[in-house]
Amino acid sequence: MRSAGKVASYILNELKEIIKPGIATIEIDRFVEKTVKAHKMKAAEKGYCGYPASVCVSVNEEVVHGIPSKKRILKEGDIVSVDLVVEYKGYMADAARTYAVGNISEEAKRLIETAENAFFEGIRFAKEGYRLSDISNAIQNTVEGEGFGVIRDFVGHGIGSDMHEDPQIPNYGKPGKGPRLQSGMTLAIEPMITQGSYEVDVLQDDWTAVTVDGKLSAHYENTVVITDGEPEVLTL
Ligand code: MF3
Ligand code: CO
Repeated sequence: MRSAGKVASYILNELKEIIKPGIATIEIDRFVEKTVKAHKMKAAEKGYCGYPASVCVSVNEEVVHGIPSKKRILKEGDIVSVDLVVEYKGYMADAARTYAVGNISEEAKRLIETAENAFFEGIRFAKEGYRLSDISNAIQNTVEGEGFGVIRDFVGHGIGSDMHEDPQIPNYGKPGKGPRLQSGMTLAIEPMITQGSYEVDVLQDDWTAVTVDGKLSAHYENTVVITDGEPEVLTL
């Protein structure tokens, strides 16, 4: 999982240079394919429950599971969320970032930063001695404190030899509930947040989740290992 995480974070870092006005979202998919192959790894999203691409690319009001396309051209002012799972020797690392396409509004910047901040506020509780929903609660408080919404229909998850393992990790909830965190647990913690309402619809393609009100959404995800001290983040 550490090896897979390194490649995932390398890809997400390189994408800062690749994502700019005028590129098609399929180019992100091509870069992911090429890079995982060069490292003798796999893009585990491809074929997962029939998902047709190697990476999820969600633009503006798209929340998660957007399908890369040669027809979708990014333009100045867009924000784009990229979510990928790298597999190495049967083990997974899952991570996502939201990128600015050229110059974006101050509000869009604040949305992107809040998703990232919420992750880091959440993992203050990602250690032995806390319960799972302590993470959830810290994420919700951070996001709602900025006046943004927390997605309910999608959640973080355990991860290991399967992409999605128990437990589910909502980005909302009261503290002090759920399983006690133990050393060695591996979790994908992933605030998915909205500028307006948290209600989502799924498009006709059966994958792309969009905000019902058409407002922006941002996503920030890392795979972390619980320890008795600070968590180890595998995808930074
Ligand atoms: N990476 C996503 C997650 O964070 C899962 C995507 S599944 C796919 O849980 F099939 F859409 F790729
Ligand atoms: Co993911």
